[in-house]
Amino acid sequence: ESTLGAAAAQSGRYFGTAIAANRLSDSTYATIAAREFDSVTAENEMKIDATEPQRGQFNFTAADRVYNWAVQNGKEVRGHTLAWHSQQPGWMQSLSGSALRQAMIDHINGVMAHYKGKIAQWDVVNEAFADGSSGARRDSNLQRTGNDWIEVAFRTARAADPNAKLCYNDYNVENWNWAKTQAMYNMVRDFKSRGVPIDCVGFQSHFNSGSPYDSNFRTTLQNFAALGVDVAVTELDIQGAPAATYANVVNDCLAVERCLGITVWGVRDSDSWRSEQTPLLFNNDGSKKPAYTAVLNALNGG
Ligand code: G3I
Repeated sequence: ESTLGAAAAQSGRYFGTAIAANRLSDSTYATIAAREFDSVTAENEMKIDATEPQRGQFNFTAADRVYNWAVQNGKEVRGHTLAWHSQQPGWMQSLSGSALRQAMIDHINGVMAHYKGKIAQWDVVNEAFADGSSGARRDSNLQRTGNDWIEVAFRTARAADPNAKLCYNDYNVENWNWAKTQAMYNMVRDFKSRGVPIDCVGFQSHFNSGSPYDSNFRTTLQNFAALGVDVAVTELDIQGAPAATYANVVNDCLAVERCLGITVWGVRDSDSWRSEQTPLLFNNDGSKKPAYTAVLNALNGG
């Protein structure tokens, strides 16, 4: 196959990208995105600050621009993200305790109702573990509402849209030896043992010199899948875009039956949140980088 999406579909997987609504008017960007990818994640437009700028007043203008573009171009949509310490609107940042807990629940219900039945996977909770070696939860206003905030979010989400796969999503959880990976593993194992409704784990996979790719990523994916959840690579970008590392990530996903697919975090290097690291598959002029060819070849079976 000659595009990433079609090549991934040969094994029942998808190959997606983050889309920014304000770039869709750029024809080079929109042409590549429409041609190559069969899954879309809104880079910022479905986040809390965008969708509920004032408490109880939902705004899906930008989110729907991404959603409608995706559907009109035949792509499935990953929802990102419902409960997160970052990109909270001011009103939410100033809440705490039971008021914040209720606001989180109301937010999940409001956004999921708008997209009920339309989203393949939701990142229900994003980035809830601390960096470093502690293995602890990240301190945040949501965490301070009580350690059960994550399972409450998942139970709320399941009731709001029973057809969406519900994912926990995080970064620096790709290396099996990292404390954060182990902490996330223990949470998912606990959720599965207690019947908390979680379907998938998203590995963001923002690899750079500080948190490099390691070949034990495949072990990580396999170990999580063995707990009874699907896994996905949700925000892939790699500093310098080495072709061999991109191919390794693809082959790791292909080796794990429950790996649903791969999403890269933008189209061209110039679209990246860290464009100075040139971490993506397309050059700024829209031409294909060596990493693109490596990914396509891997998806086509090597
Ligand atoms: O839209 C405003 C614009 O009006 C304003 O003029 C401009 C000035 O700074 O800011 C614009 O908003 C920025 C937004 O991206 C859209 O470009 C925000 O400042 C900026 O903080 C925001 O960054 C996003 C970041 O999440 C925020 O946490 C990145 O685009 C986005 O790629 C990044 O994505 C995250 C995932 O959601 C979660 N995992 C990590 C990943 C990378 O940080």
